[in-house]
Amino acid sequence: MLWSVDDMAKAMDARLQGDMPDCVTGISIDSRTIGPGEAYFAILGDVHDGHKFVAAAHGNGGAVSVVSADWVDRLEGETGPLMIVDDVLPALEKLGEAARARSKAKIIAVTGSVGKTTTKEALRTALAPSGTVHASDKSFNNHWGVPLTLARMPQQADFGVFEIGMNHPNEISPLVKMVRPHIAMITIVAAVHLGAFDSVDGIAKAKAEIFDGLEPDGHALINADDKRFDMQVAFARAKGISNIVSFGEAKTADARIEKLVEHGSCSCLTATVLGHDMVVKIGAPGRHIAQNVMAVLASCELAGADLAKAGLAMASLGAVKGRGQQHILQSPSGPYRLIDESYNANPTSMRAALALLAAAQVKARGRRIAVMGDMLELGPTSAQMHADLAEDIKKLGIDKVYLAGPEMKALHKRFTNSIHANTIDDLIAPIAQDLREGDVLMAKASFGMNFAKLIDHLLDIGASES
Ligand SMILES: Nc1ncnc2c1ncn2[C@@H]1O[C@H](COP(=O)(O)OP(=O)(O)OP(=O)(O)O)[C@@H](O)[C@H]1O
Ligand SMILES: [Mg+2]
Repeated sequence: MLWSVDDMAKAMDARLQGDMPDCVTGISIDSRTIGPGEAYFAILGDVHDGHKFVAAAHGNGGAVSVVSADWVDRLEGETGPLMIVDDVLPALEKLGEAARARSKAKIIAVTGSVGKTTTKEALRTALAPSGTVHASDKSFNNHWGVPLTLARMPQQADFGVFEIGMNHPNEISPLVKMVRPHIAMITIVAAVHLGAFDSVDGIAKAKAEIFDGLEPDGHALINADDKRFDMQVAFARAKGISNIVSFGEAKTADARIEKLVEHGSCSCLTATVLGHDMVVKIGAPGRHIAQNVMAVLASCELAGADLAKAGLAMASLGAVKGRGQQHILQSPSGPYRLIDESYNANPTSMRAALALLAAAQVKARGRRIAVMGDMLELGPTSAQMHADLAEDIKKLGIDKVYLAGPEMKALHKRFTNSIHANTIDDLIAPIAQDLREGDVLMAKASFGMNFAKLIDHLLDIGASES
């Protein structure tokens, strides 16, 4: 049981109608994936109003639906029992707050321009040996994702891990005030979704809203390698926070990497985490992942988890689909390695992926090949940010570069040794023909560039072996 219907009704100030169950087993906002015995919340989505799917939710096993009063007379089909509230999203928020109020879990909130989901998943893995962990599903980090994750938190959870994102100022603040974390971290501040902001400093300020909801005596975790580290510390102090813990590669960091050795599909490091010396193997490659892991291990220590077990658990981390997942595939002349970074891209994560490619081991005659697509939503300096990647490509010794998209023209001009096309469609066949034994190919672009199509094609023709 997740909630008794009585407790839910009390928390949301709901009126009950129909033949009520005693309790619900979960919370859903999607009638297609609702599980048996779960409560369906008919929230307003980007495209549809959830009230249109109340009957579907009931038909698919939903125990009860939470609907707004002004929809009750308009609901179609067999609705099943209803909990009637003024407005569904605020009701979900109230239930989330009730979940937080009844919880004894140590709560960790994660924000940042990149690395939120990666870090949240690593926390889930690191904390698991120390107790039951409740964490956000996927990237459920917005105005409905955060209250949904809260409302789903079981009363007996020992740890709660919440991803919190934003596109505008004043978005994080109300969300983190519901979450009330004991530990709040900013993974890194960078030029992402610059659209709503004049500058990256503006993004830093908005990310620092994560400290607004910190519990008394809570800890702020800040990236010591971030260019805006001092600025973020100042924001935290201005909000009255005195427990500030830093992580990263800097010698001064409280949780720091002492020595990092990168291998093709993992990395090994020695670290000092709040005074504890550790040797850690991380099952997913990349310097950026190792930096995130420092934040993870610092959080584990601060949350009272078993640090040694957390460190050991990092060996089982795997790269996530579209975010560094690797495949060994067949080219006509023999096996090559594909690094799938197709999920998204911005200058920071693009540089991290290029570094990952540079650190990958190529076999004899093999080449390091980068396929890069437009990084979207970068605002007026977008062309410059694309062009600036030329220095990284040269410095890192990438052997061959394919570029897709109108924004990538700026990089093509600076790095004329590259092959450019307006869409990935035009590059799929040439890339597939070019591949040979021993190559490592990394493909990365913003989601809208549809690099998944390239990945799917390569997986199709290359019959994955691992
Ligand atoms: N510390 C980091 N520095 C640079 N790049 C990183 C870092 N951590 C993760 N990345 C890369 O950034 C990309 C996005 O990672 P992730 O999905 O974890 O971010 P997110 O903040 O959850 O994004 P979203 O806002 O889409 O939810 C991936 O390609 C990942 O490999
Ligand atoms: Mg995410």
